[in-house]
Amino acid sequence: MLISITFMLISYKQSVIKTEVWPDKIYHLNDTSKIEELTFLGKVLFYDPVLSLDSSTSCSSCHSPYNAFSHTDHSLSHGIDNKIGFRNAPTLVNLAYQPIFMWDGAINHLDMQSLAPITNPDEMNESIEHVVSKLNHQSFYRLLFKNAFNDSLITGAKTLKAIAAFIASIESKSSKYDLVMNGNDVFTDQEKNGFTLFSKHCSSCHTPPLFTNYSFQNNGLLPNSALNDGGRIRQTKNTNDSLKFKVPTLRNIEFTFPYMHDGRFKSLTEVLNFYVGHSNKNSMLALELKSAVNLSSNDKVDLIAFLLTLSDRKFLFDKRYAYPKSEIDSLRKLTQ
Ligand code: HEC
Ligand code: HEC
Repeated sequence: MLISITFMLISYKQSVIKTEVWPDKIYHLNDTSKIEELTFLGKVLFYDPVLSLDSSTSCSSCHSPYNAFSHTDHSLSHGIDNKIGFRNAPTLVNLAYQPIFMWDGAINHLDMQSLAPITNPDEMNESIEHVVSKLNHQSFYRLLFKNAFNDSLITGAKTLKAIAAFIASIESKSSKYDLVMNGNDVFTDQEKNGFTLFSKHCSSCHTPPLFTNYSFQNNGLLPNSALNDGGRIRQTKNTNDSLKFKVPTLRNIEFTFPYMHDGRFKSLTEVLNFYVGHSNKNSMLALELKSAVNLSSNDKVDLIAFLLTLSDRKFLFDKRYAYPKSEIDSLRKLTQ
């Protein structure tokens, strides 16, 4: 009798817990035979400054794994020769689910993404042809390309494909939020209230589980006159897109400060003060934000407590994404 009641309770508990459903991935590797080798090659390239003209700057210079692949402490990105770019380096996470890239959507396919920083004069200031020629001179890379493509000939397309395979593999799905949604943890009262406030004011754009709907929106920021950045209009030339920027994910937001496309806010408190205080005189402001966001000081504390449940420390220190020092050292020795 007791056993069957316990069993009923367990099955009741399981039936009310719903695992959060994620959308399908958008980025797929067609040839699935060598995914591991391809992703490994992409990771080695991601951490190698050989992609920049003077071998000073790697992808990881601006997208550091310990800051959820963003550039903490730099409002605008710093590239080759200490050149300052005009935007804040975003986190690289769950990109396989993302349909469009860059703050203004300049890139629409992950396979093309790396070409932009490699050739940007303020970032790596290099040409893909020269990268390929530098790689072809290293037996280390010829071996890695052979492992990944069954062919040691290095090309630009293969180089870009490998980097895309690596960045598409970077996933963050094990935050406290995820544990709670999967029934393996519970929110504190503060986090629960924060989640309610988030669902009311924020989730129409920062939609779970990716915490963005990838649309372009004007969230009320006043333009930064020093940068003159129109956002989405730069791509579409449509005046309706003026000062709209891609809604960023809020996963790991604790580690990706400073915030916004130009890194103007240093803390989450500053971000919330902005959302609460912003003027709705801006005619391009998104509809959802036209009515005031009212948050008391307690509400702000609770909302931040909820945002911190999106921190994924397992992801931050995941060996699959870290610089593969020992593998590189032994492969270099092997190919000397
Ligand atoms: C000098 C700093 C810098 C370097 C080096 C750099 N990036 Fe970036 N990255 C940025 C900035 C800034 C942006 C946002 C640019 C924009 O929106 O116009 C960005 C955007 C991206 C995005 C788009 C993310 C999104 O959510 O839209 C991806 C993907 C990316 N970088 C990958 C890479 C890869 C791969 C490399 C190496 C080949 C690299 N980056 C090198 C600064 C850098
Ligand atoms: C109408 C859509 C919309 C709503 C609603 C919205 N946001 Fe945003 N949010 C954006 C956009 C767009 C950006 C990027 C703006 C930019 O950089 O120009 C952004 C940026 C942010 C950032 C900076 C992220 C980063 O990586 O730099 C944070 C944090 C943030 N929002 C939190 C919130 C919170 C908390 C709420 C609810 C109080 C909220 N947002 C409501 C659209 C929205």
